[in-house]
Amino acid sequence: MSKNPKIEHLKELRKQAALGGGPERIEAQHKRGRLTARERLAILLDRGSFREVDTFVTHNATNFGMEKRKYLGDGVVTGWGTVEGRLVYVFSQDFTVMGGSLGEAHARKIVKIMEMALKNGAPVIGLNDSGGARIQEGVVSLGGYADIFLQNTLASGVIPQISVIMGPSAGGAVYSPALTDFIFMVRNSSYMFVTGPDVVKTVTHEDVTFEELGGASVHSETSGVCHVAADSEADTLYLVRKLLSYLPQNNLEDPPYVPPADDPLRAEDALDEIIPEDPGKPYDIKDVIRLIVDDGQFFEIHEAYAANIVVGFARLGGHSVGIVANQPAVLAGVLDIDASEKAARFVRFCDAFNIPIITFVDVPGFLPGTHQEHGGIIRSGAKLLYAYCEATVPKLTVITRKAYGGAYDVMSSKHIRGDLNFAWPSAEIAVMGPDGAVNIIFRRELAEAEDPVARKAELVSEYRETFANPYIAASRGYVDDVIRPRETRSRLINGLEMLANKRDSNPPKKHGNMPL
Ligand code: HXC
Repeated sequence: MSKNPKIEHLKELRKQAALGGGPERIEAQHKRGRLTARERLAILLDRGSFREVDTFVTHNATNFGMEKRKYLGDGVVTGWGTVEGRLVYVFSQDFTVMGGSLGEAHARKIVKIMEMALKNGAPVIGLNDSGGARIQEGVVSLGGYADIFLQNTLASGVIPQISVIMGPSAGGAVYSPALTDFIFMVRNSSYMFVTGPDVVKTVTHEDVTFEELGGASVHSETSGVCHVAADSEADTLYLVRKLLSYLPQNNLEDPPYVPPADDPLRAEDALDEIIPEDPGKPYDIKDVIRLIVDDGQFFEIHEAYAANIVVGFARLGGHSVGIVANQPAVLAGVLDIDASEKAARFVRFCDAFNIPIITFVDVPGFLPGTHQEHGGIIRSGAKLLYAYCEATVPKLTVITRKAYGGAYDVMSSKHIRGDLNFAWPSAEIAVMGPDGAVNIIFRRELAEAEDPVARKAELVSEYRETFANPYIAASRGYVDDVIRPRETRSRLINGLEMLANKRDSNPPKKHGNMPL
């Protein structure tokens, strides 16, 4: 023990800061099934790596007796540490201090960390647990939020930004997470909404609980606001660590290379048999992905949202890749509004952070119907098209089965700068499926046929023979090669290595005008 009273004082202050809102509120937090801000950081970061700053910051508010309610750190713990040895900046809101509410000083601490992260090129991870704008500080709190929104926007596309919602995130406060790249939520313990159940009741007379309005299930299945949800805080934080393993530190770096234990030349016989004989039969594209990527490890994003398209991260030969794949097992893998937006955002993230994109195509087209047309499928489909067209990272495509219509063009086709486009022998590349095509081009003949059913079957089979294969596209060079499914892994890894020094750019501009 030191005899130096100044050091004793420092130790005392640190102890006080570590207690946040005090033992009772910490107990209340635990009773809610939630950890404290510091306990969460201890799980997220490598052991002993956290370095805190601004421990002694307090607010200067005086209204409503606030001068008597000062807490060291002002309700948010900020600093940096490492995840698997790599630098990350963090802030963790402390609900035990005035509900983690955000006032001027609290906001300034967050902005400081974000500025450091941007300057030094490392990810920012925000652990959110807050009652929102600190009511006693009035407009200054709103200003604090706006300062954060600006930093989020300036950092977008420069450093990865991850938000973890671990309690309430209400009101305009939701817009900081919404501006970041990925939102993680804890099931049954976190919620996000712009207006809470009371306001909803007043305005629309709906009775709705916090969970029904903005819980993790709603946001990961229905709204798509949440990218990854897990059952406990520890599981959620573990998944954040996992996600980081696929990402570069910033937009000027390549993602980390992990020497593969899995043989890059591994052939997978099961893939030769995976496409059903009947083109109308589904199969699970995730089985295909797992058979191809290193160690079968696939980190899925938006797993429960727009499941007709699958997106996520994996490694191929040790290289981090983003995977986009139509999912024939859900709605036949059709592209609709939600699927287009989900994939577009993912493609743009990968492009911003130098992560090559592997696209698996089995798509019957865009989803027909008034619901889709009136909802703006034209605009949403254009987002995906725009994202793929604009992307300059290596783009590798494998057409496993159907590539019909506009969806053929959209899904990383050669025409929109696909670098290496493969097709399996089961590929069918045409303007539309045989049934629809025959109905249109032989309408008159079928109407006049003696036995329209038999004639149609003949015509469908003729159409299928002509178009339902990859060789017309291959004869034009629209696919670079038709490959055996079993060799897909080695061909993709070889392609990635061939493209390792790819340089491509878009014309100089302030920014494009993506169809938002
Ligand atoms: C100041 C707040 C606060 C806030 C909570 N507290 N929210 N203090 N400003 N916004 C304080 C409480 O007074 C209480 O203090 C402590 O935090 C814990 O809150 P409880 O209500 O006891 O906890 P709980 O029952 O778990 O409820 C949590 C809650 C509720 C659902 C978050 O506190 C709540 O509804 N808060 C207000 C949410 C809100 O409307 N915020 C403004 C949103 S608008 P003591 O001292 O008793 O422990 C917004 C605009 C942002 O944020 C704009 C950006 C553009």
